[in-house]
Amino acid sequence: MAQIYLVMAGVMLCSISVCFLDQNLSAVHCVEKREIFKHLQEIKKIPSQLCLKDRIDFKFPWKRESITQIQKTEGTCYCYLMLQQISSVFSKKDSRAAWNNTLLDQLLSSLDLGLRRLEHMKKDNMDCPHVGSALRKYFQGIQLYLKEKKYSPCAWEIVRVEIERCFSLT
Ligand SMILES: *[C@@H]1O[C@H](CO)[C@@H](O)[C@H](O)[C@H]1NC(C)=O
Ligand SMILES: *[C@@H]1O[C@H](CO)[C@@H](O)[C@H](O)[C@H]1NC(C)=O
Repeated sequence: MAQIYLVMAGVMLCSISVCFLDQNLSAVHCVEKREIFKHLQEIKKIPSQLCLKDRIDFKFPWKRESITQIQKTEGTCYCYLMLQQISSVFSKKDSRAAWNNTLLDQLLSSLDLGLRRLEHMKKDNMDCPHVGSALRKYFQGIQLYLKEKKYSPCAWEIVRVEIERCFSLT
């Protein structure tokens, strides 16, 4: 139990929520958030505590307070890019080899649904260069880590936990 906690606590500080957007639409987005989170959990293959030695700090670029600020002004853009990047991580060819493809497809389609819904919210600002470049850098780190670890089962589990953390904290 303590070990599992260590994995979870050691990994990161990412604290996004897909729930934060327009007041009126928040319920819709919470549904999607729950779906994505559920699929991220279902896809899990090996116990996290087997992968303690593979832990790494991916250096999420923001603290919780700055996230709150971003959510207020550039929330849709931030959220869109986040879903896009997560989708890109799990869309890789090596991802097919790592995960149960049925469950992987469910995860990818829930991400895709979230993206399409955000695309319809045209009234919001979809231009956020600073947020975008910080996010891209963060996800490049994740992709590089996977590559360096040769897409090992533990590397994927560490990344899965990292991304799951993003959805569990609000
Ligand atoms: C929410 O919806 C109501 C009714 O549809 C509308 O009057 C209100 O302006 C909306 N609020 C926001 C923040 O969009
Ligand atoms: C993949 O997951 C589905 C749904 O849980 C399951 O029915 C199927 O047997 C799994 N496939 C493999 C190869 O484990």
